Amino acid sequence: MEQSDSPVYRYHDGTKHQFNRFASSLGYLDWATQPRPFRSFAGSPAYSLYPAPDAPADGYTPVAVDYDHLFEHVGPRATISAGAVGDLFRHALGLSAWKAYESSRWALRVNPSSGNLHPTEAYVVCDALAGLSHHPAVYHYAADRHALEERCAFDRDQWKLVADGNDVLLVALTSIHWRESWKYGERAFRYCQHDLGHAIAAVSLAASLLGWRTQLLPTWSQRAIAALVGVDRDEDFVEAEREEPGCLLLITADRTPPVANGADELLEAVRRGRWSGRASQLSEDHVQWTFIDEVAAASEDPGRSWPDSSWVQNASGPTSWSRNLPSRASMGARSLILQRRSALAFDGRSPIDAETFFGMLARTLPGSTSPSSCLWWTPRIHLLLFVHRVTGVAPGLYMLGRDPAGFDRLTREIGRQHGREPAHHSLPIICLGRGDCRSLARRLSCDQDIASDGCFSLGMIADFDASLAEYGPSFYRHLFWESGVVGQILYLEAEAAGVRATGIGCFYDDPVHQVLGLQGHAFQSLYHFTVGFPVEDRRLTTEQGYAWEKRP
Ligand SMILES: Cc1cc2nc3c(=O)[nH]c(=O)nc-3n(C[C@H](O)[C@H](O)[C@H](O)COP(=O)(O)O)c2cc1C
Repeated sequence: MEQSDSPVYRYHDGTKHQFNRFASSLGYLDWATQPRPFRSFAGSPAYSLYPAPDAPADGYTPVAVDYDHLFEHVGPRATISAGAVGDLFRHALGLSAWKAYESSRWALRVNPSSGNLHPTEAYVVCDALAGLSHHPAVYHYAADRHALEERCAFDRDQWKLVADGNDVLLVALTSIHWRESWKYGERAFRYCQHDLGHAIAAVSLAASLLGWRTQLLPTWSQRAIAALVGVDRDEDFVEAEREEPGCLLLITADRTPPVANGADELLEAVRRGRWSGRASQLSEDHVQWTFIDEVAAASEDPGRSWPDSSWVQNASGPTSWSRNLPSRASMGARSLILQRRSALAFDGRSPIDAETFFGMLARTLPGSTSPSSCLWWTPRIHLLLFVHRVTGVAPGLYMLGRDPAGFDRLTREIGRQHGREPAHHSLPIICLGRGDCRSLARRLSCDQDIASDGCFSLGMIADFDASLAEYGPSFYRHLFWESGVVGQILYLEAEAAGVRATGIGCFYDDPVHQVLGLQGHAFQSLYHFTVGFPVEDRRLTTEQGYAWEKRP
């Protein structure tokens, strides 16, 4: 099929922002149809999760983890219990704060989301656990209450077959496209995928708190994921917005090889299981964005066998980059995860030092200790950096390569007007040109000051054509997921460095490619990001995520 005939390419090009035309959206916010932020399943048994006061910890005591050790998986491993599952969700997808301004009040979450619209829903499948169902079950995570809603209880013998004596659980992520398209129209499918990527990394990092490993399972098709968590059950979604199945994560609390067997048996078990609950409706009225339905259908993931050159194995060695990380005072990983916020504005003045800058970038590189090791493919995202205020690093344009072969091709595609001078003794980073690039960064990121007022901003450049040719159209989603994973790492790195970050979904696509002299679709910018010293909006008041927690 020619690229121009491919629905994925048509969608991608059709939702680019141009200097003279934004991707199609309503153009105003229709408050009457604003989606409710939390989904619930009426009629399903609900279980409060630890650390809520009415939730059982079941003998679970969290072990303090230093942020820098989070990546090394050296701590003790918790066994899977209701308390540990509560701790996992609290630090992956729970509420981080409530903000208020005049009569408006809104929740923030551990995982960020474009426009704070949170299209991502999460489900967990696990064995019978004291304090939860007496059967193995599929649950929906209700972030507003930090509770699990039991969607399906099923036969114990089937779970035993799947787990094969190992301490494992499964987390499925889905997207409600309407939540994002309500505000952003046709470009919303992209944002749903970014958000899913952030959520993947948030789950993987929270699992690391417990000493657990996370692996994205390539073998599960979207349809199988939908059947597993019941989002394909028409009778439970009467008048409720449908959820698009996204991905399935295997979380292991022991040394299980990262492959879940018995998918067919598990699907048969839930098919015969006892389902309960009806999905809530988020808006009474909707605008249909058929371009999104088309790209969703065209990029449906049929699932695939584990890639031959198992990336998981390749990434199992220690990374040389970790030697570049700056040493710093110990910081509790849990509090750092909960304090993550997007900066609304930067001071336009203060610099970070070179060691901090390179240390943050080193964290985005692959390796067994990176949250990106939960992805099954070799990295496809490289970083185009706009350096503004880094002491010891000249302002200018730089590129960080996250995979040697892809980076090699990318540097050959970049126009001759750019240099390729190595900018670090051991990191794969080159300087394309020195100079003040603040107005360029601002202009490319939809004229947003956050792209120029920080210490640095960046564009995530995806190895586009080659990846889609290798893995098919469904990999369009995966490219965005990887960019979300990189973004989530940078969000936390920024907090750890005492600065703050913000994801930038609004940027002018092709003008970014033009800056680099890139032709066609070999490489495409998918996500922008920025890091700097934040300026707080003092008009907003802040309350804790849950009533039982200490006030901030
Ligand atoms: C994919 C994505 C795109 C975003 N795009 C922008 C953007 O273009 N401009 C902006 O100011 N903030 C942007 N944000 C930040 C969100 O507005 C922010 O995550 C959300 O309001 C929730 O706040 P929190 O991150 O503090 O939890 C983006 C976030 C994500 C995850």
